[in-house]
Amino acid sequence: MSEAVARKWDSETQDAAAVKRARITRLTVTNFRSYPRAEISFDGRPAAISGANGAGKTNILEAISLIGPGRGVRGARLDELPRIDGDGGWAVSARVDDGEDERRFGVGAASANPARRICRIDDRDASGPGAFAEHLRFMWLTPAQDRLFMEGAGDRRKFLDRMTLAHDPAHGRRSTAYEQAMRQRQRLLEDGGRDEDWLSAVESQMADAGTAIAAARRAMVSRLEAAEVTSEDNVFPDADLALEGDLEKALQSEGRDAVERDFAETLRARRRRDAEAGRALTGPHRSDLLVTHRAKGRPARLCSTGEQKALLIGLVLANARALSLSDPSAPLILLLDEIAAHLDEGRRAALFSILDDLGFQAFMTGTDRSLFEAWGSRAQHFDVSDGAVHETQLT
Ligand SMILES: Nc1ncnc2c1ncn2[C@@H]1O[C@H](COP(=O)(O)OP(=O)(O)O)[C@@H](O)[C@H]1O
Ligand SMILES: [Mg+2]
Repeated sequence: MSEAVARKWDSETQDAAAVKRARITRLTVTNFRSYPRAEISFDGRPAAISGANGAGKTNILEAISLIGPGRGVRGARLDELPRIDGDGGWAVSARVDDGEDERRFGVGAASANPARRICRIDDRDASGPGAFAEHLRFMWLTPAQDRLFMEGAGDRRKFLDRMTLAHDPAHGRRSTAYEQAMRQRQRLLEDGGRDEDWLSAVESQMADAGTAIAAARRAMVSRLEAAEVTSEDNVFPDADLALEGDLEKALQSEGRDAVERDFAETLRARRRRDAEAGRALTGPHRSDLLVTHRAKGRPARLCSTGEQKALLIGLVLANARALSLSDPSAPLILLLDEIAAHLDEGRRAALFSILDDLGFQAFMTGTDRSLFEAWGSRAQHFDVSDGAVHETQLT
């Protein structure tokens, strides 16, 4: 951490109490996953949720994550969410103290129309889950990401874009615009691509949104580098990041307008090839995030499972700290599923003090409540069993 950043960080932590950050104060779920109904109040301390395998811990984190853009921590389809023995309808609602007002957010579906996701903000219908992005931002880690460095670029790209979205709520809209334009272009190409003007218009939309996506990813990576998080204690390893992608690379040496123009030209030149391939072979939808374990100088893919997990945790915390430096009152919420399992006692303690310093609301799960015991009353503890959630006091 550079001195300037450290100073800024120090003064920021001192001010942390004064910074108003959004936090969820109450969560209510109805006929959601394993829960007929549950109502949980959160007091702002990190929430430590424990319970046996299958008790319903991840379901709680998933419910929370659905008050954000996208499909939540599991990327679930709508028809997976209603409780199997329920009437087909379901609801998740959250009260959020945004530092000034109490807001209410809700998502769900009616039993009469389970295929339509209803999103509500303060009792008004919202256009869709994207509307939540203006109010709450989420970053999460789940066991499903444990193989992030081993598998294809798609999941790493999602991870990268979620990290970007934490800084920049407009990133989701760009991604949607890009994907829509890309699908439309493909349809036009399949139809023979005769409408040149229309194709060009769609390609320029792709170029516009695509360049913005690449630029936002680059900005995210530089913020992360500037925040240089956990390096002091070395509890979570530092990572070097590189973006692999045509546009991201071009932006290193060229201005945005030039990159956008070049991309539109590339798309035009590759129409025939993309038509044959059935998809666009170039663009930010093909980019990858390359992560290197700095101390070992080794690509994450070649690191041990434990090292990979530590790298991921380090990245998420680094990004949260980057955000707290650039936008201390950002409404970020951290969801850390099965986080304690991979960490020894020292790392769990370090994680806690980092979360404490960051001041963003955090929800964590673990199978054994003893994993969280050392946190004592600095955390709020919950037990999940038999389809119910109870706050517990540590003795
Ligand atoms: N739509 C659903 N209706 C009823 N039960 C569900 C539904 N989806 C998942 N479950 C159940 O929820 C339980 C898993 O909850 P989960 O939160 O993943 O547990 P864990 O505490 O291990 O994280 C499983 O028993 C699963 O069968
Ligand atoms: Mg789970």
